[in-house]
Amino acid sequence: MDRIGVIGGGQLGRMFAIDAKRMGYHVVTLDPQEHSPSGQVSDEQIVAPYEDKAAIEELGRKTDIVTYEFENIDIASVKYLEDHGFKVSPNSSVLRITQDRTLEKRFVRECGIPTADFEEIVHSSDVAGAAMSVGFPAILKTARGGYDGKGQWRARTLDEAKGAFAASKGARLIFEKMIPFVRELSVIATRNAKDEVVTYPVVENVHESGILAMSIAPARVSEDVANRARTMATTIGRKLGIVGTYCVEYFLTAKDEVLVNEIAPRPHNSGHYTIDVTQCSQYEQHVRAICNLPLSPPRLFANAIMMNILGEGTGDHLDGVDDLLSDPSIELHMYGKKHAVARRKMGHFTMVLNGPADENAIKRAHAAHKKLRWTTAVPQ
Ligand SMILES: Nc1ncnc2c1ncn2[C@@H]1O[C@H](COP(=O)(O)OP(=O)(O)O)[C@@H](O)[C@H]1O
Ligand SMILES: [Mg+2]
Repeated sequence: MDRIGVIGGGQLGRMFAIDAKRMGYHVVTLDPQEHSPSGQVSDEQIVAPYEDKAAIEELGRKTDIVTYEFENIDIASVKYLEDHGFKVSPNSSVLRITQDRTLEKRFVRECGIPTADFEEIVHSSDVAGAAMSVGFPAILKTARGGYDGKGQWRARTLDEAKGAFAASKGARLIFEKMIPFVRELSVIATRNAKDEVVTYPVVENVHESGILAMSIAPARVSEDVANRARTMATTIGRKLGIVGTYCVEYFLTAKDEVLVNEIAPRPHNSGHYTIDVTQCSQYEQHVRAICNLPLSPPRLFANAIMMNILGEGTGDHLDGVDDLLSDPSIELHMYGKKHAVARRKMGHFTMVLNGPADENAIKRAHAAHKKLRWTTAVPQ
């Protein structure tokens, strides 16, 4: 097995392709956008929509195994590969569950793992019943297609919830209880076909307007909480039967309850730190899993803070990089996206720490982040 196909050409595909290339693989990306972040570092990019069957077939023919870097792809494309004798990991039953919040939450509960209370809403007449059983404040999310806080509405009253349903234009929704969490956590894990599972240390995540802003590795939580989160991730990976790297997101409550928020069947933004401070990154681990190679037990060389660099809509040139990199503890990762549209994930940096990932380190990371600014000016 020495050729890998990736459906999706974003930054996750790019970082995956970089590790796959380092390990000697031939990488083909499928993405509708020419010169995509992943396409730039692949041997080849097929430029076509993800649901284009001829393109999917071509991707299958040109590679030995196909994977995907985000879950909002057409499941028919993955099924097509399976039905035509091409290998694809994770498989379509994993994708079916993880691309639908209702199926995903029911699945997590069937694993005996708690989530926020929720009800499915299909018709407007379901809103009142869901509100009665779940209560307020609530968050309504489209069952499918949402990411980075998109397709979500917060509601404190029945009127607001009805307004959210109207705004969703008839999309199937989940009506979910707002959790007054003390921390958001995630665990990156990888499972291979031999049912081996490795989990990385628990990470603490800070979101701003539904988008990840910062990850702190390791999370500032008790050993008991960390162990429970890692065990839940292992259980979920095994029950799903996933082959590849995945991420489980959690809410930690004041009573130390660990609730699962969602599962991503792919490498995850909160695992970028593994590139810089672990022996085997989440991306290499994914290569290993889908190519039937042994997994590498995660070893953390240093604590780290990862901060996302989002576009601001104020220009496409990133100013302040020289200043940022005057701090040798910082590793910069940019994704090769041309336009720094507001809120778009353009890159990230990892601050590799000598000491603990504490308040002081977080302050330093924020100060480093403030050095960056998107401008229209072209540097001399
Ligand atoms: N039930 C909830 N209670 C409190 N905050 C929530 C809840 N659901 C989502 N959020 C907030 O919104 C963010 C994005 O929601 P999430 O369900 O993870 O969707 P996405 O697919 O966009 O990442 C979460 O990381 C969290 O900060
Ligand atoms: Mg999320």
